[in-house]
Amino acid sequence: PRNTVRGADGALVVAGLGVRDLAAEFGTPVYVLDEDDLRSRCRDFRAAFPTEDVYYAGKAFLCRAVVRMIAEEGMFLDVCSGGELAVALAGGMPPERIGFHGNNKSEAELRRALDAGVGRIIVDSFAEIDRLTALARERGVRPRVLIRVTVGVEAHTHEFIATAHEDQKFGFSLAGGAAIAAALRILDEDALELRGLHSHIGSQIFDTSGFEVSARRVLALQAQIRDARGVELPELDLGGGFGIAYTTQDDPSAPHDLAKRLRKIVDSECAAERLAVPQLSIEPGRAIVGPAVFTLYQVGTVKDVDGIRTYVSVDGGMSDNIRTALYDASYSATLASRASTAEPMLARVVGKHCESGDIVVKDEFLPADVQPGDLVAVPGTGAYCRSMASNYNHVPRPPVVAVRDGRARLIVRRETEADLLALDVG
Ligand code: LLP
Repeated sequence: PRNTVRGADGALVVAGLGVRDLAAEFGTPVYVLDEDDLRSRCRDFRAAFPTEDVYYAGKAFLCRAVVRMIAEEGMFLDVCSGGELAVALAGGMPPERIGFHGNNKSEAELRRALDAGVGRIIVDSFAEIDRLTALARERGVRPRVLIRVTVGVEAHTHEFIATAHEDQKFGFSLAGGAAIAAALRILDEDALELRGLHSHIGSQIFDTSGFEVSARRVLALQAQIRDARGVELPELDLGGGFGIAYTTQDDPSAPHDLAKRLRKIVDSECAAERLAVPQLSIEPGRAIVGPAVFTLYQVGTVKDVDGIRTYVSVDGGMSDNIRTALYDASYSATLASRASTAEPMLARVVGKHCESGDIVVKDEFLPADVQPGDLVAVPGTGAYCRSMASNYNHVPRPPVVAVRDGRARLIVRRETEADLLALDVG
């Protein structure tokens, strides 16, 4: 996080608070959210995209306090389940600023979205168009929808693949003709207000050329729709996926550069297709919350294994960060509770779970005198860590503490064994 420094005693200090005090007050593991950092990332995106709508992708991490923060910062919010919608509404996000995603929204979820008056629903299948049409007619409303288009672009950190077809569960295929058919059906039936097209090409993307291909394809569809029905859809959403630095080798674009590039791509494609430039929106999740959080763990065991490497076991693991095990993600770790002048040693930071893949940080140099009782911080854990946390081995999920101006505020409390047992009703 931006407001993290080393204090006089060598311990990490975030927003004016020492990590030892945080650990003493809230226990470990704990997710520490630097509120000013999160807010400043919202502001950076809003400043870079002043005329566009910036939807925070709530799947990265959502709780009521974060909903309030992003709402105050003028952000919109993308949700993709009834649960996320419930948190968004409970946090006071104005419904008209909510977009509802998902490839298998239930009828109950759609009903709730309509009753709440969400700003837009991103439709993902013909079955959903039918379902939503019936519900809208029943209620006498005309919801605003975007069509999720599968553009045949798959982007990852440093590369992307563009194909004619994409074999995946999301959206309407462009190449197969489903996307144009969906657009024409919605326009002809008139029960739903078709506002525009949507594409999302992947996550943790650094190479913007994937957006170029996807914008070109989706705007070609926009031109096709105009040619068929004489309407130009007013909105275009290019999705999220903007990469963040997990380790020092990563080099993400600043929102400002990203905005410049995306606008240039859209402007030139619109000129080529003789289209008016639609109102753009984007959906960053990771880039807003990822860098704003670190996880603070306590070291329990330090084990040298045959002189090959040292395993530093912390009091959490794959239940609070599944990303290393699941995606082979790279994180870093640092000794947080004190300074050390000891030699660096190659360490693997592992958790307390009953499997050998329970790795938090695969390779890291930690001071050779790291010992039980030390605190270790793993930065960049704001996105897809708490939101993908589990109770594996009946380990209660850690709390989230927001820090700002020398004050710490519990925003998600620690789960207890009593919480876990409360579900066990047999
Ligand atoms: N919009 C849509 C339609 C999405 O599906 C996603 C992410 C986003 C926006 C936000 O993407 P972001 O800006 O956060 O990259 N669990 C994985 C990431 C899954 C992303 C799913 N969709 C991970 O931990 O890397």
